[in-house]
Order: sequence, then C-alpha cells, then structure tokens
Amino acid sequence: MAKAIRFFKLNTGATMPSVGLGTWQSEPGVVGEAVTSAVKIGYRHIDCAQAYSNEKEVGSALKKLFDDGVVKRADLWITSKLWCSDHAPEDVPLALDRTLQNLQLDYLDLYLIHWPVSMKKGSVGFAPENLCPPNIPGTWKAMEALYNSGKARAIGVCNFTSKKLEDLLQVARVPPAVNQVEIHPGWQQAKLRSFCESKGIHLTGYSPLGSSGSSFVKVQVLKSPVVTMIAEKLGKTPAQVALRWGLQTGNSVLPKSTNETRIKENFDVFGWEIPEDLLAKFSEIEQSRLLRGSGFVHETLGFYKTVDELWDGEL
Ligand code: A2P
Repeated sequence: MAKAIRFFKLNTGATMPSVGLGTWQSEPGVVGEAVTSAVKIGYRHIDCAQAYSNEKEVGSALKKLFDDGVVKRADLWITSKLWCSDHAPEDVPLALDRTLQNLQLDYLDLYLIHWPVSMKKGSVGFAPENLCPPNIPGTWKAMEALYNSGKARAIGVCNFTSKKLEDLLQVARVPPAVNQVEIHPGWQQAKLRSFCESKGIHLTGYSPLGSSGSSFVKVQVLKSPVVTMIAEKLGKTPAQVALRWGLQTGNSVLPKSTNETRIKENFDVFGWEIPEDLLAKFSEIEQSRLLRGSGFVHETLGFYKTVDELWDGEL
C-alpha cells in the first residue's frame, strides 16, 4: 500500500500538511477563488507572503470559509513571509501584524524570513540602491520573539544555503523549523537536503512544477522526458509525478495554480506512489536553478556582489 505522506512533522512538534497551495503570481481577483476552491477540495495549507501583494484577498476568502463553516482555523496551516525591507528588529513585529491584519488571522502557523537579503526600510522594488547589508542574527532574534509570543507558531527561513543555515544555527536559540527553497525534479537540492536532514530542518519546495508559467523559465520541468515517461507509465500527469517525487523525497510542496481543475489535479498525489526503480530515474534529469535571485545582487551596491555569492556556490 502506498504511504499517503499527508503531513511532515517539524522540529516544533507540529504536523504540517505536505501539500500547500502556492499563491506567488496568483493575481488579485483570482487568488481568493483559488484559496476557496483549494480548501473545498481538501487543501489544508496555504502559502502566502506580504510580497505577493494579495494577502488581503486571501484573508477575505479565509474569513468566508470560516464564517460558512467550511473549515476551522485550527485545521488550516497558514504560512507567510517577512519581506526584505522589514528586517530591522523593530520592524519585524509590525510586519507580522500587518500580515495578520491582511489575512484576518490572529496567528500564523509559520512565519519565514523571505530572503537572506535586506533592503532599506520603506523601499519598494528591486533597484540596486535599495539593497543594504543584512543582519540575520538581529532579524532572527525578533522572529524568535514572535515565536515566543505565540503569534508565529513556527519560524523559519527561505532561500538559505547550507552555509547560511549553519551561520544561523550558531546564534539561534530557536532553530528554524523550515527552509523553503526552490525544489523540483530539475533542481533537486541534494546537498541542502542532506544538510537540513542532519539538523532537523524541514525543507519545503517552492516552484515544485518548475514554475512553468513564469516568463523567466526556460527549462520546462513538466516536459522532461523522465517525468513524462513516468507519468505515462503510472497513468498520472507530469505535474502529479513532479509533486509525488517531492513528497517521496521528503519535502513538502507548494504548487501554485488559480485553475480549479489543476488545483484538484495537484492534490491527487496521496493514494499512489512512484516505485523505487522509477524514482531512481530522476537522477538522470539535468539540474539547473530557475530562480537565480539576480535582482538581489549588485557588483558595487549589493552585500552579495554576485549570484554565486548569494547562493554560496550552491548553483
Ligand atoms: P495555472 O495557475 O494557470 O494553473 P509552480 O507551482 O512550480 O510555480 O508552477 C506554477 C505554474 O504551473 C503556473 O503557471 C500554473 O498555472 C501552472 N500549473 C499549475 N498546476 C499545473 C498542472 N497541474 N499542470 C500544468 N501546469 C500547472
């Protein structure tokens, strides 16, 4: 019998639903509908961020779901993220309060530092002059205070390399529960995965379908011959195979869709599995990072001068 893999246990003791609805690039006007459909289909995990500029609409959809008795707050897992211009320790609680207000919630299940990159307070956009040196230990201390207050029931980071996690672990009193990074069959993150496993940090994969709708994406993960061959063999879609690969490899997945049929398709990943011999085939897929974060580096104004520095050579 296939293991369902519906939850992953975090180092806080909490169980996080393994499949969450991604909301990056979900347009206002459709994201609320997507959240409503997802919850009705059975999703219990929604991944948000202040930077996605759609939390208000997500919040209205959640409120209606609670008011209509479709789901209880306690049965949902809601994640959001601290943006780079709110890294100053005194700004961290204010940023969480803003997010909670927009989402119409009184706590988050998980609050993450969105990038290991800081931008000047109040700045908007990716202009190089907005960049400033990060003080991750200071920001993390403020995150720990939110964890201790109960407003964020778990805290973590996104886009951290093994080296950046190692540095953080040196100073953390509360270790990060999660590192959310790009993971899909075309960027499998083997090194980071074993590091996180050894430290009890759960890995969550964003862009688990290879972010096929994004304009900057040139490699089509869902068209990879290995993925399509396995999909055909198992009678599943390439998206389902990509997601199930993530679950079986041990990471939670956050497929983004605003299309009800695809939202449903992406949740049908529990009652079956990819057998070991086919799982081994994923090692044949050529690896390349899709989201390079080039907007966060600058040769003179950036704290990170190159993309290679941002990712500590994990490219
Ligand atoms: P849409 O929102 O129209 O469904 P990722 O989660 O890796 O960032 O990928 C998101 C992209 O993949 C979006 O463009 C989304 O478009 C598309 N997508 C979502 N689900 C599927 C699916 N089951 N099959 C193909 N494309 C999908």
